[in-house]
Amino acid sequence: MPLPTEGEFRLRQADLADMPAVYRVCLRTGDAGKDATAREDDPDALGHMFIGPYLVLEPRFAFVLDGPNGVAGYVMGVLDTPDFYARMERDWLSSLRRRIPDPGADESRWTGSDWVRSRIHRPAYPFPQALHAFPSHGHIDFLAEARGQGWGKRGFRHLMDALAAAGSPGMHLDVHPENARAIAFYEKLGFAPVISEELPAGSLTMARRF
Ligand SMILES: CC(C)(COP(=O)(O)OP(=O)(O)OC[C@H]1O[C@@H](n2cnc3c(N)ncnc32)[C@H](O)[C@@H]1OP(=O)(O)O)[C@@H](O)C(=O)NCCC(=O)NCCS
Repeated sequence: MPLPTEGEFRLRQADLADMPAVYRVCLRTGDAGKDATAREDDPDALGHMFIGPYLVLEPRFAFVLDGPNGVAGYVMGVLDTPDFYARMERDWLSSLRRRIPDPGADESRWTGSDWVRSRIHRPAYPFPQALHAFPSHGHIDFLAEARGQGWGKRGFRHLMDALAAAGSPGMHLDVHPENARAIAFYEKLGFAPVISEELPAGSLTMARRF
């Protein structure tokens, strides 16, 4: 599958050397699409939970967007969500837990990155029946310099094509309910909300078949 190039930007397969750059993008887009730097006391916490395991455990479906200032975004996904969650638990989070302190489950005591640290120690791993027709899932985050030029669409289509070519019948994703821009973007790509009481409150799950 050819990787798109246009103007100063180019989508390419990610590799492990991209780790610091993708962690940076994750932090700078981590507050419902806005910069989360001021909120987090650990600049790596978001990356540890939301992007590192994708790059390391599912490199086939990990892509970065190179721009004039280096990595300007990423599109990453997994083929089989329950299989990925099992590997994430065994091969990623279990070792992180040995060095990242558990802030406990009492939200009223959390400060800074405690909410992510708590997720690292108590991940939700949601995959209810309502998502079984959409076993893949993915993430996309671009810095402001890469947005609004069609790259989100090109990048996400590339990911969907790669997942479909590998045999996936459909995918889901989670989006912050206040991230209206991303919700509009996913709707344009054919995603629709999934309503299920078994899905975590506080985030919106959207899905589409291939
Ligand atoms: C969401 C995001 C990936 C979209 O990527 P993008 O490159 O800006 O989007 P594109 O330029 O490819 O736009 C694709 C389509 O979505 C539409 N779209 C994009 N932003 C939109 C907005 N704010 N309102 C309505 N439609 C929007 C575009 O109009 C376009 O539609 P068209 O094909 O009919 O012209 C990007 O803005 C981003 O990374 N945002 C910050 C991080 C984030 O929120 N990630 C999602 C977390 S779940």
